[in-house]
Amino acid sequence: MSLGILISGRGSNMDAIIAATKTHALDATVAVVISDNPNAEGIKKAKKQGVVTFGLNVNDFASKKEYEEDVVKILKGHGVDLLCLAGYMRIVGDTLLTEFENKIINIHPSLLPAFRGLNPQKKALESGVKYAGCTVHYVTNILDGGPIIDQDIVAIIENDTEKTLSDRILEKEHGLYPRAIQKVIQSTATKKGEIA
Ligand code: GRF
Repeated sequence: MSLGILISGRGSNMDAIIAATKTHALDATVAVVISDNPNAEGIKKAKKQGVVTFGLNVNDFASKKEYEEDVVKILKGHGVDLLCLAGYMRIVGDTLLTEFENKIINIHPSLLPAFRGLNPQKKALESGVKYAGCTVHYVTNILDGGPIIDQDIVAIIENDTEKTLSDRILEKEHGLYPRAIQKVIQSTATKKGEIA
């Protein structure tokens, strides 16, 4: 399977996915990494790993639709089967959702459906829950609301801060994301087998 990864910043999940393809823990290749921020740290990391990258500046486009049309063109041009959002800080619009229907997944640092949207680690701490975690899910037009693929749990400990909790969740994310992608790959293969 050929993966596309969409990022906005640091790219540590992207790095974990690329690493898993190289060790063959993941039966996939990363065909292209696209960032909506040409200066994203993740773009430098991807280049270092020898992955093709594109840094797009949203302000260069007349509309979100035109920006997403370009993203779609790049993804299709590189034969992408599955698009993985990894710290992509933009809401996915209709153009991308239609062209890659049921083929976009995302990682979110909470145990969905709890704490959708921004700052989920802070919301978890404030709510008093004892367990936080991370979720990989399909992307739909409901923010952080698509079908869940897999999750991992992190216990909240005394004196946890947003930073300490986020760091522990991130560590789990790096294991969860490649595992969840592998799950998608296997279920896609099974479905194909059933149809054939
Ligand atoms: C991660 O916590 C991810 O769950 C969230 O944004 C963060 C991105 O981190 N969607 P990185 O860019 O992968 O390091």
